[in-house]
Amino acid sequence: MDVRINPSILSADFVNMQRDLERISNADYAHVDVMDNHFVPNLTFGPQMVQRIQETSPIPLDVHLMISDPDRWAPGYAELGVFSVTFHLEAAGDPVALARSLRARGSRAGVAIKPDTPVDALLDIVQEFDQILVMTVEPGFGGQSFMPTVLPKLGELTRAISAQGCDVWLQVDGGVTEETIVQAAEAGADTFVAGSSVFGHASPDLAIDALRLAAGEHVHAR
Ligand code: DX5
Ligand code: ZN
Repeated sequence: MDVRINPSILSADFVNMQRDLERISNADYAHVDVMDNHFVPNLTFGPQMVQRIQETSPIPLDVHLMISDPDRWAPGYAELGVFSVTFHLEAAGDPVALARSLRARGSRAGVAIKPDTPVDALLDIVQEFDQILVMTVEPGFGGQSFMPTVLPKLGELTRAISAQGCDVWLQVDGGVTEETIVQAAEAGADTFVAGSSVFGHASPDLAIDALRLAAGEHVHAR
């Protein structure tokens, strides 16, 4: 079973973005947190910045949209040629139509749920997505503590995915460290976002290797 480590550039130095992207070239994908100061109380990048990161990054982009009205705005991110676009279920009007529109534009389609959002609405439609993101902190900021209480959602999703015989990556985001990644992997995650634990390390590439090793021993075969 593959393990994917996606450092969040929310914890990078925004005025040395190219240098920091090069420091994570051994990662699988660069996780790009788009925040609109409306869906979450923080503001980061818009499409022009994501486009430049896409042109500059040595690894493909995993874009996490923490924005209102993704039905309107998410397809434009897919058109930039990024690897995947993940929108929030809580903000979407028609998540299935939006996922299909992202795939039609050549990107993988992801859906995210906040810590208090149940998985129920997703269980019958998992095959519509390439990735499901279970947030392990309240979205909006890096450097928060991992919430183990959300982990049972990963088990429910794993069962639904195997029942439907599809291949959907299960991502966790928030408070992922060498310690918490073990719990997330045991609960069923295979794709791990880590911001402060990677960029807060003197050698981000070594932090990525350590996370990959820690998760690899615990990730489930599906
Ligand atoms: C939080 C973002 C995360 C954040 C994770 O809303 O979605 O991607 O960067 O940061 P850490 O790993 O520091 O919790
Ligand atoms: Zn994120």
